[in-house]
Amino acid sequence: MTDFHDLPSADGLWTHLRLAPEALGAGHAGMTDAALIVRDGQLVWVGARRDLPEVASGVSRHDGAGALVTPGLIDCHTHLVYGGQRANEFAMRLTGAGYEEIARAGGGIVSSVHATRAASEDALYALALPRLRSLLEEGVCAIEIKSGYGLALEHERKQLRVARRLGQDLGVTVRTTFLGAHALPPDYVGRSQDYIDLVCHEMMPALAAEGLVDAVDVFCERIGFSLAETEQVFQAARSLGLPVKLHAEQLSDMGGAALAARYGALSCDHIEHLSAAGIAAMKAAGSVAVLLPGAYYFLRDTHLPPIEALRAAGVPMAVSTDHNPGTSPALSLLLMLNMACTVFRLTVPEALAGATRHAAQALGLQKTHGTLAAGQAANFVLWPIDDVSELAYWLGQRPACRVVRQGRIAVSS
Ligand code: NIG
Ligand code: FE
Repeated sequence: MTDFHDLPSADGLWTHLRLAPEALGAGHAGMTDAALIVRDGQLVWVGARRDLPEVASGVSRHDGAGALVTPGLIDCHTHLVYGGQRANEFAMRLTGAGYEEIARAGGGIVSSVHATRAASEDALYALALPRLRSLLEEGVCAIEIKSGYGLALEHERKQLRVARRLGQDLGVTVRTTFLGAHALPPDYVGRSQDYIDLVCHEMMPALAAEGLVDAVDVFCERIGFSLAETEQVFQAARSLGLPVKLHAEQLSDMGGAALAARYGALSCDHIEHLSAAGIAAMKAAGSVAVLLPGAYYFLRDTHLPPIEALRAAGVPMAVSTDHNPGTSPALSLLLMLNMACTVFRLTVPEALAGATRHAAQALGLQKTHGTLAAGQAANFVLWPIDDVSELAYWLGQRPACRVVRQGRIAVSS
């Protein structure tokens, strides 16, 4: 494999581009005959070709060949690093078992915990590598990766270290999220408070000190952690200066989103059972609603998230794979765009903003990622397609694309 740093530089002038809707910001309708300039891995100019400033004659020229350009895609909610798989539970659910029932019987997240604990750091890296590659092939330039299948300091560390290594080796922005409060580990059954103390006072400070934690998440649910326990984790995160996000109201309305909003959460994710009060709180706090249609589909959920109310309230909506072995073994963000449109009734521009600008906001990366604008990192995708809808159209096929990631031409398919 070519080392990322040996890939050709994208520095220079790019012409013959069409900018996709939303590419330049909220409500932007798109642009024909656009150009952009990359210098030292950053976008330094984006706009209509007729407004192009004078460019020195020695500067490299890149012909966009009329491609539609989007910002690099961002997958803002994944559990990409884990051992094993759970196809058996998928089969069990098809014959009537429920997700919560399987979890209560010792399967579910805990089953992935056993497989993850048994795997070495290198083994986890080898398993996660092709997953990440498949996302990168279709234009992903930044990704969030959560821990939460270790549930003990050394194993959570192992997951987060793999996430960091993947980012460095593949030249992709990785934001790590500590999800120590994902499930009660088997060795703590009946001692939930002891485990929360461990998460807050030992695991989180140690991993944060090692530079492995960009944000903190909790699974606030009947089969996860209570509202009071979630708040303890948020307080610990606040005392370390770490932003929070939440797996909220996926299976029931626990009031998690309103709590997360009180802690200024970057995002509340899943939110199928989100209440009107939760929406208002998220709007006031500026939290992003991360929609995860893969998990909704895979669990054969029927309770739709309140899309129309989120839209009416002006809460930014992101779309992500939620890649994980239990509820969403999905490795295509474009397929999630399709599902966000067909199942959740987003428009194509809304779905695209959900995988670019709003996804960046859900990770606190909006200053450098998610739009095509001077000052942003050079992450963009050239799609040889006529209409932006094609990005959310194919099922099981990737449109060809050229991907510029961290200022290098990283994919040419
Ligand atoms: O985002 N809901 C909790 N966490 C994951 C699923 C984890 C699992 O089942 O392994 C999710 O759906
Ligand atoms: Fe998740």
